[in-house]
Amino acid sequence: MTTNFDEIAAEYKRAKQQPWRLHLEHFTLFKLLGDLQGKSVIDLACGEGFYTRFIKRRGAARVVGVDISQGMINLARREEESNSLGIDYLVQDVKQLKIDETFDVVVAAYLLNYAQTSDQLLEMCSAITRHLKPGCRFVTVNNNPQHSVDYFPSTRKYGFIKRAHGPLIDGTPVDYIFFLGDESLEITNYHLSVETHESAFKAAGFQHITWHKPELSADIVDDTERHYWSDFLEHPPVVFIECVK
Ligand SMILES: C[S@@+](CC[C@H](N)C(=O)[O-])C[C@H]1O[C@@H](n2cnc3c(N)ncnc32)[C@H](O)[C@@H]1O
Repeated sequence: MTTNFDEIAAEYKRAKQQPWRLHLEHFTLFKLLGDLQGKSVIDLACGEGFYTRFIKRRGAARVVGVDISQGMINLARREEESNSLGIDYLVQDVKQLKIDETFDVVVAAYLLNYAQTSDQLLEMCSAITRHLKPGCRFVTVNNNPQHSVDYFPSTRKYGFIKRAHGPLIDGTPVDYIFFLGDESLEITNYHLSVETHESAFKAAGFQHITWHKPELSADIVDDTERHYWSDFLEHPPVVFIECVK
């Protein structure tokens, strides 16, 4: 189990190739992000730049990616060197994020679920509001704190399961185990309740907070295929949150 992405940077890239990433995660995230044309965007916990590059290709004018892992940022910069999009990548802990700039949009795919306490979550949320222009949005996809452990096994057919180290109370470690052919990859997140998130968002200065379930891509038209995703949609393991400063 790890939360250190330096050790697993290359394997994690493979975990992003699972079909649910495209049909649900990518689809819902970019539906919520809407028109990015000409906007300044910062992607927090950007990893190796998986979504950062999509954001730039969607027409964002200025894009910055930030991650705590030097290994992930090395991969992102390598990609930028071979196929330059004009993205700046920085190694920083979001809890102490300090960039002398504010952005039109702040994005984070799987950042908040690394906060182990309400104080750490507040540090992250405060860093986000400090770097967001007034009236602008933070959009994130994250572990869903309302996903009941009873339904954890039902994501096995999508290529991963979650495993909780105890009852789902604030601070309980929740592992994501990705099945990648003959190998598996385990990543540890931390449970924090919906109420703890709402308190941190409000204390950090967010005005409007909306939780969204994943949506299935409109490109999936076949009934059998749509039915295949029903467990994911009915008991979502991940959730999307939109906050307005
Ligand atoms: C599950 S990966 C997601 C990467 C990318 N957003 C994606 O969706 O492919 C989580 C990332 O969060 C980063 N991370 C965890 N805690 C962080 C922190 N406090 N500040 C910045 N990055 C952090 C990890 O290094 C890792 O790259």
